[in-house]
Amino acid sequence: MIVIDREKCIGCGLCVKDCPANKLKVEDGKAVYTPECIQCGHCVAVCPRAAVSIPEYDMDDVEEYDADTFTVDPDNLLHSLKFRRSIRNYQDRHIEEEKLEKILEAGRYAPTAKNSQSTRFIVLEKELGTFRDLLWEQVPDLADKMKETAPHYAMLFKFMYRRRKKNPEDDPLFFNAPTCVLIAADNPLDGGLAAAGMEHMAVAEGAGVLYSGYIQRIIEASPALKEWLGIPDTAVACFMLLGYPAVTYRRTAPRKTADVERR
Ligand SMILES: Cc1cc2nc3c(=O)[nH]c(=O)nc-3n(C[C@H](O)[C@H](O)[C@H](O)COP(=O)(O)O)c2cc1C
Repeated sequence: MIVIDREKCIGCGLCVKDCPANKLKVEDGKAVYTPECIQCGHCVAVCPRAAVSIPEYDMDDVEEYDADTFTVDPDNLLHSLKFRRSIRNYQDRHIEEEKLEKILEAGRYAPTAKNSQSTRFIVLEKELGTFRDLLWEQVPDLADKMKETAPHYAMLFKFMYRRRKKNPEDDPLFFNAPTCVLIAADNPLDGGLAAAGMEHMAVAEGAGVLYSGYIQRIIEASPALKEWLGIPDTAVACFMLLGYPAVTYRRTAPRKTADVERR
């Protein structure tokens, strides 16, 4: 449902032009909405008079944007993208609450297919220890089950399990990260885009993340873990470790040349 304030609307038609679903038209000098749309909010964002609202959302959340004064330095942004590293060594301290909120906010504002906004973020902090123990407990059985379908992972997980058994301080899955965030999404790209935004926000806050494909695989193979997490039927798009790096990188890591075809 889109609501247009007829007092404020000047019938400029900017919302009509920008509506991806063609659900708006100008009639008698005022914008008019025909249900139903995906509530992408472009009509809210583009209106020069703030005449459009979507009651389903918290409209106090909407921020004004001044294209003349707001800038992102492209070189700085590229530096940040290049200096970002996967973190496998964490300081023993939690991310401050307001920083964590910003990181989650970056995930919330990621685009989603059909604007579904159905991505879920499960932050593990207080219960991380319980979850970690539960996951490690499952590893030997899951590794056995993977012998046929994924023998490489079966061997790897067994090796990791033995390593941790020998020294519980040496955790080759969780790397003693103080926080983990699971991103659940039926569309994997929705979750991936949220994760990327969150990672870059984390870097801007002086923190860092590791996407753990291993943990993601273990959770996906374990109905008990999915049940514990409250996502029995939703796919895990990303399992992210999050915290302050206990390692300082001095330069970028090299990369292959990009496989780009321009036609
Ligand atoms: C989807 C995905 C899953 C990953 N899973 C793991 C993992 O399970 N364990 C790990 O140590 N690193 C994992 N990584 C990190 C990659 O190994 C890392 O991105 C790559 O080596 C490049 O290093 P950089 O991120 O520091 O540039 C994963 C990365 C991605 C994007």
